[in-house]
Amino acid sequence: MKEVLDYIESGKTRFLEELMELLKIPSVSADPAYANDVRKTAEFIVEKLKAAGADQVELFETDGHPIVYGEKIVDPKLPTVLVYGHYDVQPPDPLELWDSGPFDPVIKKTALHPDGAIFARGACDDKGQMYMHLKAFEAIQATGQPPVNLKFMIEGEEEVGSVNLGTFCKEHKEKLACDVVLLSDTSVIANDVPAITVGLRGLAYMEVEVVGANKDLHSGVYGGAVANPINVLSQMIGSLKNADLSINIPGFYDDVVELSDAERTAMNEAPFSLEEYKEGLKIDDIRGEDGYTTLERTSIRPTLDVNGMWGGYIGEGAKTVLPSKANAKISMRLVPNQHPDKISELFKKHFESIAPPGVKVTVTSHHGGFPAVTPTDTPEYKAAELAMIETYGKKPIPQRSGGSIPIVSLFEEVFGAKSVLLGFGLDTDDIHSPNEHYGLFNFYKGIETIPYFYQFYSQLKA
Ligand code: BES
Ligand code: MN
Ligand code: MN
Repeated sequence: MKEVLDYIESGKTRFLEELMELLKIPSVSADPAYANDVRKTAEFIVEKLKAAGADQVELFETDGHPIVYGEKIVDPKLPTVLVYGHYDVQPPDPLELWDSGPFDPVIKKTALHPDGAIFARGACDDKGQMYMHLKAFEAIQATGQPPVNLKFMIEGEEEVGSVNLGTFCKEHKEKLACDVVLLSDTSVIANDVPAITVGLRGLAYMEVEVVGANKDLHSGVYGGAVANPINVLSQMIGSLKNADLSINIPGFYDDVVELSDAERTAMNEAPFSLEEYKEGLKIDDIRGEDGYTTLERTSIRPTLDVNGMWGGYIGEGAKTVLPSKANAKISMRLVPNQHPDKISELFKKHFESIAPPGVKVTVTSHHGGFPAVTPTDTPEYKAAELAMIETYGKKPIPQRSGGSIPIVSLFEEVFGAKSVLLGFGLDTDDIHSPNEHYGLFNFYKGIETIPYFYQFYSQLKA
């Protein structure tokens, strides 16, 4: 380990420079205008994987963006770790809210990152975290060989629902066979409070359209007599929450697993300051489902949120118009044992049923994903825990996260392997927001922790 750590220590500046190069390529998977840059990013990963010493490095075409694969098979008798990550990023909009260009990485100090953080889209989610794995591997290879077999699968469509990765995994089941999947795409609690993510929420994402008259109308001549789709849509959306902010869709909670009092008590022992939470977001109060704490509301409870809503006149000044149409994108975060297809179906049925006369309502479903919970009594969890104890000097706290990585449940289904969610970001790193950043401390800490994971995993499996 000493040689590995020395190698990392002396490579730090270069590792950061390489990450900066990677962050300059705008790999926005959602926008076809960036398709070429997405490919360039995949090629960058191919080169770096090869340079680090991986074999069989290949760029696999899909119906969408390419998947990068590479491996280091040391000995078939050793356990195999499949490292998963994504090189695609969310769109950077709204651009005017960035203090520097989303694809012009800069390093700045922040209150939570006194050693500096790198600001760019994808810095934390997930280029910075994914790249830690390449550099950890490089350090291991340069000083010896991994104590496990390693396979790398880095995709370019996570932010658009991993639409082609499922097929790829099924088609290359033998090639990708593994004992465990390791990914860094989640958060710790704080830089001095390590954590391992043991749960992710699922997702059901809907789009709705409400149509009234066949054209926009004068709001004086027709207003009050013809349905206004925006008024109607607002009312319909408003009715989706009860006064206690639970979700008002019949059957929505039927499959929700309630935690025991002991489990709830344990999860609320994790360090959390409501005052800091509110201060960080500049809000005077929080708002969420009655009877649950903020930690619970953002992990073990399902939610429903409007992500965007449009219609009518939104230009300069005032235009008196009774619009013909209104639209919204509505997502629901799911918890065990909710099924995304069943929830989408319940939503659709309910939403259509509450449409008043005078409008037509259409509900369509976008991508979804299953929630995931990972056990803590496994060699892989123990290995991750021991690795963090080595590098943080503290036992990490198991925590359930509110975010979603839908492909995790598929890994278990296809490979029969559990995932270890060994993330190093902070929830306050503004992923998907303007000014996304990733701490240098976090980047280096990840690179140091990963080799320990392999070492402990190999020992515990032996
Ligand atoms: N890395 C995130 C998920 C995440 C963030 C998990 C923070 C835990 C903590 C991932 O890239 C992501 O953004 N997932 C999407 C879902 C996807 C289907 C677009 C999400 O959670 O919105
Ligand atoms: Mn991610
Ligand atoms: Mn993301």
